[in-house]
Amino acid sequence: MPVATPPFHDVKVRYGREGWFPMPFTFGTAEITKMRESIEVISAQNRPEVVFEENSTAVRAVHGCHDYDAVCHRLVRLPALLDFAERLLGGPVYVYQFKVNMKQAREGSAWPWHQDWAFWHKEDGMASPEAVNIAIFLDDVTEENGPLQVIPGTHHLGLIDPEGDKREPTHDWRQHVSAALEYTVPDDFAASLAGTHGTQRFIGVAGTAVAFHPALVHSSSNNLSEHRRRMLLITYNRVSNAPANPARPEFLVSRDSTPLVRVEGDHL
Ligand code: SIN
Ligand code: MN
Repeated sequence: MPVATPPFHDVKVRYGREGWFPMPFTFGTAEITKMRESIEVISAQNRPEVVFEENSTAVRAVHGCHDYDAVCHRLVRLPALLDFAERLLGGPVYVYQFKVNMKQAREGSAWPWHQDWAFWHKEDGMASPEAVNIAIFLDDVTEENGPLQVIPGTHHLGLIDPEGDKREPTHDWRQHVSAALEYTVPDDFAASLAGTHGTQRFIGVAGTAVAFHPALVHSSSNNLSEHRRRMLLITYNRVSNAPANPARPEFLVSRDSTPLVRVEGDHL
């Protein structure tokens, strides 16, 4: 994992303005191979953390792997990741959420426009969006295989609720992991935001990593291509921002907010 670190002040300024940042390092083939191997094993297991596409046997995502898989357990403790998260968030951190979105070839369905912050605030009671997502590409991500796209700067808008959401929340976590998401940013509103702010697609080779803010509006389309697009997402939260009494399953909201301790070296 070669590290070319820009001055952190510059990282903070750019992240503060745009709500996303390309990580200053990439993961090499050895690391990506280990992550892929772990995720393939987990995907084949019969466990609640494995979620399927609607009416399909295609795995959509696996969750909470840092709690039960040795490679993922080590990954979230790598010094390069922890240094970044702690400096960005200004204090000790823990893993709030860990998932791998599988975006299978031809079968991986979309993620509508949304803010993660809506789920974490409304469902879990997270007080402030002092958390950060780090997305690691486990496959090459192209224009064709459903890249993640964001609307830069929208994290400054807080919780977006243009029509005043009058629905009673279902509190059904299945609607937080499926293509029919419970809290979305309506398409026409997202289109007007995109008209003002533009959009940014996260394209890159396997091993690329990108950080983005919990309130940043983002989405991704169906994967109509022949190439899957596995993306691993680690959410670090500042320990002092841990919600008091989350209700959703632990594999969506970690209960253990003990500060993470670094492992030695940035290899898996
Ligand atoms: C997410 O919103 O969790 C990520 C969507 C994606 O994997 O494209
Ligand atoms: Mn999201």
